[in-house]
Amino acid sequence: MSTKSKVAVIGLGNIGSIVASNLVKGNRSIIVADRTFDKAKNYAEELGSLAEPQEIADAIQNADIIVLALWFNTIQEFFGTYATALQNKIIVDPSNPIAPDENGGFKKIIGEHESAGQILSSLLPKGAKLAKALGSLGAGSLADAAFRQPEKAVLFYATDDTSINVKIEELIHDNGFEPVRIGKIEESIRMEVFGDLHEFGALAKTITLSEASNLSLESSL
Ligand SMILES: NC(=O)c1ccc[n+]([C@@H]2O[C@H](COP(=O)([O-])OP(=O)(O)OC[C@H]3O[C@@H](n4cnc5c(N)ncnc54)[C@H](OP(=O)(O)O)[C@@H]3O)[C@@H](O)[C@H]2O)c1
Repeated sequence: MSTKSKVAVIGLGNIGSIVASNLVKGNRSIIVADRTFDKAKNYAEELGSLAEPQEIADAIQNADIIVLALWFNTIQEFFGTYATALQNKIIVDPSNPIAPDENGGFKKIIGEHESAGQILSSLLPKGAKLAKALGSLGAGSLADAAFRQPEKAVLFYATDDTSINVKIEELIHDNGFEPVRIGKIEESIRMEVFGDLHEFGALAKTITLSEASNLSLESSL
C-alpha cells in the first residue's frame, strides 16, 4: 500500500481534470470532487480505478492534500464554507486572480502588486498550510508537457512552510513535472499569470530544470 499522502482534486474543469489525469498517469490514487457528485463520478469512471469520486465534504475529510482547482473568488468563498473541514490540511492553490476583460482577453482583478497566493494565505483556515502550485503553465502545456522525455518540464511552487516541500514536490513529480520552489508565498506573483515565471507572462514557454537554473530564484536548484 502506498505511503503517499492522499490527494483530493476539487474542481474538475480545465486544470483540475488535467491534474487528476496526470496524477493517475503518475500512478497516484486520488479523490475527485466537483460541485455535483455526478460530474466527479463520470470523470472518475473515465480515469479508472485509481480515481475515487466523493462529495466535497468527504473529499476534504479523507485527503491530506487538497488541490483547489477553482477560480480565485470561488476559493475565497470555499475557505469560508469549509473552514472547519480544511483545518490543518495542505491546500494547493493553482489560481490566477483574473477575469475576462472587454477585449476578449483577461484582466487582473486584484491590485497590480498583489497575488492570489498572498491574499489566500491571509485567509487560510486554522492550521492549514498553503502551497501555490500547479498553476504556472496553461492547461494545454499542463497536459501536453507532462512526463516529457528526455527532460521533464518544470512546475514552480511557493510555500511559507518548508515542512510541506517534500509532499508538494512528490505531487508535482507525480503530475509528470520537475518541481522548483521559487521561495515563500510572497513570491507567488511571479508564477501567476503576467508574472515573470508564468507561461502566460514573461517566461512565455515551458522550461527544463537546467534552463530554470539560469533564472533568478531564491531556492537553490
Ligand atoms: N485554464 C488554464 O489554462 C489555467 C492555467 C493556470 C491556472 N488556472 C487557474 O486554475 C483555476 C481553475 O481554472 P479552470 O480553467 O480549470 O476553470 P474551469 O474550467 O472553469 O473549472 C472550474 C471547475 O470548478 C468547479 N466549481 C466551481 N465552483 C465550485 C465549488 N464551489 N465547488 C466545487 N467545484 C466548483 C466548476 O464546476 P462547474 O462547471 O459546475 O461550474 C468547474 O468544474 C483558476 O483559478 C485558474 O485561474 C487556469
